[in-house]
Amino acid sequence: MRDFNPAYAGTPPWDIGRPQKEIMRLAEAGEIQGIVLDVGCGTGENVLYLAGLGYEAWGIDRAATAIEKAKAKAAQRGLKANFLVADALDLQRLGRTFDTVIDTGLFHVFSDEERPLFADSLATVLRPGGTYYMLCFSEREPGSWGPRRVTQAEIRATFSQGWRINAIRQATFEINQPGEARAWLSSITRLEESS
Ligand SMILES: C[S@@+](CC[C@H](N)C(=O)[O-])C[C@H]1O[C@@H](n2cnc3c(N)ncnc32)[C@H](O)[C@@H]1O
Repeated sequence: MRDFNPAYAGTPPWDIGRPQKEIMRLAEAGEIQGIVLDVGCGTGENVLYLAGLGYEAWGIDRAATAIEKAKAKAAQRGLKANFLVADALDLQRLGRTFDTVIDTGLFHVFSDEERPLFADSLATVLRPGGTYYMLCFSEREPGSWGPRRVTQAEIRATFSQGWRINAIRQATFEINQPGEARAWLSSITRLEESS
């Protein structure tokens, strides 16, 4: 499991200093509802954007350096947001649930073995009927720079039981270097226990 703390000593390529535009589109479309958790939130731009819109917004990341930066930004901008150092593979430890979970760039860092563990962990904090929006690099992104590419089939396999895939659509992942990466934006709802 990679330690991302050293990356946050500087500004990593994914840390664009603003929310991902796909997240802004979701919020503008009214897709993000209720209390929101950003898993693997990095330095918190998505969380701070949503907090600025009036959402109760939470962000967790395993990298303490990223969470320190996120907290500093919240204080600087006078925004109320909740940032915690936590493991996305053990979300039950948060001891609470959320209506919506967002993810820009976390799922695509997981190994094959970690993917089902993450889906199980996610199910402990997303209320039944709540939706997980996930932005990841897609296999349509050429070259080998950056994170591993994820296929639609891999997303469907990970969330095949206890989840409904509402949509997986072509999207872009913004980076702080020239160009944008080809991505998938998935909308995945946690099913009620009996469904
Ligand atoms: C590519 S970065 C994306 C960060 C952020 N979402 C953004 O868009 O700027 C992936 C993030 O996932 C975090 N991460 C990786 N594994 C994690 C885990 N098991 N639990 C929580 N965070 C994790 C890393 O520390 C890193 O901040």
